[in-house]
Amino acid sequence: MVMDVIGFSPRPSQAEVFASKARFLVIDAGRRWGKSLTGLNWLLQGVCDEGGVHWWVAPVYAQSKMAFRQMELAAKRGGAEQLLRKSLSELRWEFPNGAVMEFKSADNPDNLRGSGLKRVVIDEAARVRRDVWEEVIRPAVSDTHGRVMFISTPKGKNYFYELWTRGQDALQPEYWSPKPLPSTDNPMISEQDIEQARRSLPADVFAQEYMAEFLENQAGVFRGIRECARSVRMGPVPGEVYYAGLDLARLTDFTVLTILDSAGRQVYLDRYNTLDWAVQKRRIIEAVREYGARLLIDSTGIGDPIYDDLRRAGLAVSGYKFTSVSKKQLIEALMLAFEQRQISILDDPVQRGELEVFEYTLSPGSGGQVHYSAPAGYHDDCVIALALAWWARSASPGLRVWSLA
Ligand SMILES: Nc1ncnc2c1ncn2[C@@H]1O[C@H](COP(=O)(O)OP(=O)(O)OP(=O)(O)O)[C@@H](O)[C@H]1O
Ligand SMILES: [Mg+2]
Repeated sequence: MVMDVIGFSPRPSQAEVFASKARFLVIDAGRRWGKSLTGLNWLLQGVCDEGGVHWWVAPVYAQSKMAFRQMELAAKRGGAEQLLRKSLSELRWEFPNGAVMEFKSADNPDNLRGSGLKRVVIDEAARVRRDVWEEVIRPAVSDTHGRVMFISTPKGKNYFYELWTRGQDALQPEYWSPKPLPSTDNPMISEQDIEQARRSLPADVFAQEYMAEFLENQAGVFRGIRECARSVRMGPVPGEVYYAGLDLARLTDFTVLTILDSAGRQVYLDRYNTLDWAVQKRRIIEAVREYGARLLIDSTGIGDPIYDDLRRAGLAVSGYKFTSVSKKQLIEALMLAFEQRQISILDDPVQRGELEVFEYTLSPGSGGQVHYSAPAGYHDDCVIALALAWWARSASPGLRVWSLA
């Protein structure tokens, strides 16, 4: 049976992708460029021309399901639904020519076993771990000499960048990559949307997400972590003013208490879990009292009764309510402190790790909002405690001292 892909007219930059006969295609493009649409159509082309098994791989399940749904809509619109067999539980389509299209997510290595694949699209490849490519997908296309398309917005200079540079190297003809393709290449994205994003997002975020630029050290939110790690633990100095930030454990997290001095130097860091509240409280009260620190805690939800407890103990405590807006403000203030080297932190490996992996995500759609959080499976307690202490310090009225001549 002959099948044709209809209804998709690639723009010139997309047509180039289809024209390339290279085995590994590495497409670096901005948000809303049409990455997913291009990838899906390239996979469909393989289904029609070559038969066999084809994979769509996305970083997480929700994304692969979205692509599966997109295929469903296309099949409905084209009146081809009866010709195809679908399995929603397996996210799998079977075509009349026997070809199979399976939608996988890279966060579940168990469902990534397979071999003999004809084409694979790794959507948002910069957010898929390198070993998924090297250890799972690469072997699965070796016997069939299958082809792979990596299509993504960049994420710093990680392995996706490495693959992209191979595509730029005439001596590695197996790889092909076009120059970075900005979102502005898609005429369906209005200039207004792009302008709004340019104005509202941090400059780096815009450059990476919309201009598809490969930036140095772009994986994280905080810059200059190493340069800022030059503080040492110090006991309280008489006359000094201290600011404490407390992030309380919820279920599996850690409780972290951080103390900064008035110069923005971190002088104290304590981190513990699985202690009961009475023990935690004693430890917090002791430290905060010792430094005479003003304490800022997360007073959202669980924080409230604890807040009262600490206040009753006589601590100068205030609450910070977390909303998506207030969290953004809190984190951006700390970002700026690192960028301008105003803060100086203890060289604690756990804290450094949390600061390094802390990341931003953009909500879907053009002009998306930026959100900050630890990646799934990582903690952010040290980051939040530090951000609260920094906020407490910045929000306090400045100390004015007159010298007596
Ligand atoms: N050649 C094309 N013809 C018609 N519409 C297109 C074309 N290319 C992209 N689009 C439209 O542009 C929009 C973005 O496409 P798509 O979702 O594939 O982009 P993306 O780069 O994967 O976006 P995101 O960064 O949000 O993942 C969609 O509405 C899509 O239908
Ligand atoms: Mg997409």
